[in-house]
Amino acid sequence: TKRITVLTLQNIYREKGKIAALTCYDATFAAVLENAGVDILLVGDSLGNVIQGQASTLPVTLDEMIYHVCCVERGTHSVFILADMPFGTFQVSPQEAFRNAVRLMAAGAQMVKVEGGRHMAETIEFLTCRGIPVCAHIGLIPQSVHQLGGYKIQGKTPDGARQLLEDALLLQKAGAAMLVMELIPAALGEEITRSLSIPTIGIGAGAVCSGQVLVLHDMLGISSGTLPRFVKNFMAGADSIQVAVRNYVKAVKTGEFPAHEHMF
Ligand code: KIV
Ligand code: NA
Repeated sequence: TKRITVLTLQNIYREKGKIAALTCYDATFAAVLENAGVDILLVGDSLGNVIQGQASTLPVTLDEMIYHVCCVERGTHSVFILADMPFGTFQVSPQEAFRNAVRLMAAGAQMVKVEGGRHMAETIEFLTCRGIPVCAHIGLIPQSVHQLGGYKIQGKTPDGARQLLEDALLLQKAGAAMLVMELIPAALGEEITRSLSIPTIGIGAGAVCSGQVLVLHDMLGISSGTLPRFVKNFMAGADSIQVAVRNYVKAVKTGEFPAHEHMF
């Protein structure tokens, strides 16, 4: 089989299907997730928390991201691979962002993800015009945790919501191929999704998104500490990881997940 492309994702979106994404950091899980029908594997900088035991994603380096992209790429042959640009590798200039994105693409990523609102528009346009598809990421952006003052829901005030909608429109205009929305009210996730013509992938952003993503270890119920409300443990009631992931894919595709208790 050939690897699915950005066109496959656009087709799912155009036909009003839902995109099922999960984070993934290694070859073995990557193969399991691919076989279970996951559309996108996000090699997220959440690997700082999940794999490295860090308190935040800030310490994750580009070399570490490249290592994990290579692992996921080797374990798969058809799934779409999205890779996070880690903190500090894309904020300084569009040129530097391009140079660093090239290394993730060379490792096997098919699209890179950058956190941030309208200030990332110039960088997204620079990369997109030069052949690198970009996924934007707004709402709770974990690389800015020290500025946000914690992992709090974003866009709760009318002004905050309006700014996030404007960000989404500006990033789409800049050429973003996809948009991750993290930890925002369900009503805002719906408004942004309906306002855009690119797929939105929600995590704690309600049900009316073009797709959903969760951190793999969270949905398998093996993360330590208290989990955010938007997480569902798919191992509960499943007798294997394969079944849990299949149930996740099914729940996303049918719109069963997220349910009301996973929204804000
Ligand atoms: O790194 C990550 O896991 C992410 C998702 C939470 C969207 O960016
Ligand atoms: Na991330």
